[in-house]
Amino acid sequence: MSLEHHQIKAAFSKAADHYEQHAILQKEAMLRLMERVTSDLKTPPEQVLDLGCGTGWACAELLAAYPETHIIAADFSKTMVDAVDEHPQISKRVTDAHGIDVHAHSIDLVYSNLMIQWCDERIVLEEIKRALKPGGYVHLTTMGEHTLYELKSAWRAIDEVPHVNQFVPATELADLALRLGFEEVIVDSEFITMTYGQVIDVMKDLKNIGAHNTDHMRAKGLTSPQVIHRLSQAYQTFINDQGLLPATYELVYLRAKKPQKDVGLSLRIKSE
Ligand SMILES: C[S@@+](CC[C@H](N)C(=O)[O-])C[C@H]1O[C@@H](n2cnc3c(N)ncnc32)[C@H](O)[C@@H]1O
Repeated sequence: MSLEHHQIKAAFSKAADHYEQHAILQKEAMLRLMERVTSDLKTPPEQVLDLGCGTGWACAELLAAYPETHIIAADFSKTMVDAVDEHPQISKRVTDAHGIDVHAHSIDLVYSNLMIQWCDERIVLEEIKRALKPGGYVHLTTMGEHTLYELKSAWRAIDEVPHVNQFVPATELADLALRLGFEEVIVDSEFITMTYGQVIDVMKDLKNIGAHNTDHMRAKGLTSPQVIHRLSQAYQTFINDQGLLPATYELVYLRAKKPQKDVGLSLRIKSE
């Protein structure tokens, strides 16, 4: 596991006990993703994997929609998994999405809200495909490339260091899913804008949910009061009519199906 991977895990574990308080965007994304799942899957899935489940708030929604289903609530942070409510139909699992601890071809639906942007998308999608039964679905959200363009732009006025995580464009994600042999791939995105009083609030929110750039964590001293002041000035270009600072998130949805007859990844790669 890379240093960055350890840092992401540590940041999420630290954020677990106050995660739900600050994860307003995550909750909104979770509800929107759930709506898509329920309008897409009319046959109740028997086995659901909530990958990167966090504190597990999607589990209650999944059980409400599919009362008979069994859910594996999986996250690489034990602190997050421990926070998931106990339920006879929920199994908790501490596991990394890059090597998911579930049997191959065992899952009907992989549901994953705002996790994959922290991962190597290719490895995780391969793992999801391995876990899915033939004909099973993945529904996930991630962050798109236009996420936090205001903050990125404000930082660019100060230095060239990337302070905000770079996210994969939606089209690349769709392309990747197709190359890995998924079918019926649908990718689309929508913008969600949150507003904040001060630029420090935008940054605090990111930190509290463990979403800050790990490169930035290493670059000590970059957020001195002077830097924050300059950043606030640069962010003023985006101020809205109410005098608030907008922060825009591009929420990307991926929906894909594992074919009934899977020709196999290795075969595909060799023939490319
Ligand atoms: C932004 S939170 C979203 C949590 C939850 N899905 C929700 O809707 O609130 C991202 C979650 O993904 C988990 N995560 C990040 N990278 C992971 C990985 N490689 N394997 C498993 N979980 C991971 C984090 O621990 C965190 O709980």
